[in-house]
Amino acid sequence: MLTEVLEGLRSRQKFLPSKYFYDKEGSRLFDEITRLDEYYPTRTERSILESNLEDISDHLGEKIMLIEPGSGSSEKTRILLDELSSICCYMPIDISGEYLQKVAVQLRRDYPEITIEPVVADYTHAIELPKIHNSARKIVFFPGSTIGNFEPDTAMRFFKVIRGLTGNGGGLLIGVDLKKDLNILLNAYNDSKGITAAFNKNMLTHINREIGSDFEPGYFDHSAIWNEDKGRIEMHLIANRSHTITVEGESFTIEESESIHTENSYKYSLSDFSDLVSPWFGVRKVWTDPKKYFSLQYLSPKPQ
Ligand code: AVJ
Repeated sequence: MLTEVLEGLRSRQKFLPSKYFYDKEGSRLFDEITRLDEYYPTRTERSILESNLEDISDHLGEKIMLIEPGSGSSEKTRILLDELSSICCYMPIDISGEYLQKVAVQLRRDYPEITIEPVVADYTHAIELPKIHNSARKIVFFPGSTIGNFEPDTAMRFFKVIRGLTGNGGGLLIGVDLKKDLNILLNAYNDSKGITAAFNKNMLTHINREIGSDFEPGYFDHSAIWNEDKGRIEMHLIANRSHTITVEGESFTIEESESIHTENSYKYSLSDFSDLVSPWFGVRKVWTDPKKYFSLQYLSPKPQ
């Protein structure tokens, strides 16, 4: 974290990596975000899953090992585990070992007939993924439009790694947020209760605790804007006064109105997304909600 924070503050456009939103308080705030009226992605994805279970099951096929990078609470996955008798094993992959073990205990209790194989790993580093020796077909589940946090080139590398994981007979079930009316998008990241603002600023508290920096959350305002050029929502923390931040003895001056860029959330059209995955996957099926806000897509690997 120290290295990344220093790199971010030394850059011309200051930035901090969005993965640092998620300490205990950040995860709680994100959970609160998912229940806000303005934040449509979570509930829309859940309703797409629930209304299409039979068709999803038909597309996924028989004897499935379900693999989920960044599984967290595995809450949405339970919808699949509840309904798809074709799932024989479930491999949640998460960076937080302690939390993962807790979730695994509950999953084993609730799904005694499914083999639960938790793996502690940072899925953004392919090397750490386990070699899987199992005859079941490997289906990777990547919900929540987490893919939207990746730069397009990082997303490409991710799809390549996942293609390696699925082999020729598996697939990828992925949640992808779609381009839509600008006001709907902006409101989702500028909620009226200020929860997203608190979530954004909490990153500074998290970083202070981990590396002993002296960010002052009150010296920043939340900002979420649409970058039309890049097709993404950007979150920033905007300094409301000129001040100095000290990290490991190194000082950084931040001017009034200067921003620290904290997150990108890319939104795709269906054709943008199919182009992005095309070197490794073909889009087999797209499920959406009636307003076409969000998509759940089933991709199958292309022969390599
Ligand atoms: C978890 C990455 C899907 O981009 O919508 C929510 C994170 N940031 N509100 C998103 C987030 C601000 C979220 N993802």
